[in-house]
Amino acid sequence: MTITIKDEAGINGMRIAGRLTAQVLDYLTPFVKPGVTTNELDQLAEDYTTKVLHAISAPLNYDPSGRNPYPKSICTSINHQVCHGIPNDKPLKKGDILNVDVTVIKDGWHGDSSRMYLVGEASIAAKRLCALTYDALWRGILQVRPGAHLGDIGHAIQKFAEGHGLSVVREFCGHGIGQKFHEEPQVLHYGKPGTLDELRAGMTLTIEPMLNAGRKEIKELGDGWTIVTKDHSLSAQWEHTILVTPTGYEVLTLSDGCPPVPAFVSVN
Ligand code: MF3
Ligand code: CO
Ligand code: CO
Repeated sequence: MTITIKDEAGINGMRIAGRLTAQVLDYLTPFVKPGVTTNELDQLAEDYTTKVLHAISAPLNYDPSGRNPYPKSICTSINHQVCHGIPNDKPLKKGDILNVDVTVIKDGWHGDSSRMYLVGEASIAAKRLCALTYDALWRGILQVRPGAHLGDIGHAIQKFAEGHGLSVVREFCGHGIGQKFHEEPQVLHYGKPGTLDELRAGMTLTIEPMLNAGRKEIKELGDGWTIVTKDHSLSAQWEHTILVTPTGYEVLTLSDGCPPVPAFVSVN
């Protein structure tokens, strides 16, 4: 198996899918408030994706193991849940932090992005974790250019996270993405500079660090999907889909409603 290189048509398909993915997250933003249930958010996302965007929710019935199809349209991971939380009927509470992970298929191409939402007022520690994880994502993105190595991305994220006393989840990673949801390569969020595959223009991949306030260890719940921190410490995640361009990177999952690019990212 090899890493796919997208041609001009593929890049266009990826740009469209990425933009729609970000639009779903924008659409959900005003609904994320104390009292709303994650099932309500799931239904809003599904209706918007299918009826307004004329696209498909990739998670619904996604079944990489062939044994346990994912039952909902989005992933919603609260507080100590790391990723792949399944929407349910429990209302969100003031002070919760919520990751919403959206993957949209449009004309066969996938866009994948997730954001953290603060439900009402969050604690200083929770806000700090969410903000630092966002910065960690961008530390990774800044490494992306032809000739760089996947290990450069992982190293930048790990160094930043651990430098701020946070731990990096090892068992889940970013991934190549295109006409398949999860393609080669794996994009680890830890590692050594100069190691692993070299990036080439036309690759599309996600970067999606999961950072814990406590220890890095995780466990899977009995539903076969939800991942939580073993020590029950808070966990945060942000995800973008990225195109490797001839000169660097293009973030495909930006939108009007996504948070501003961090100040350390120079735009020129
Ligand atoms: N969106 C997740 C990712 O970033 C994968 C979710 S798989 C699902 O790779 F089945 F849980 F939706
Ligand atoms: Co992903
Ligand atoms: Co995702």
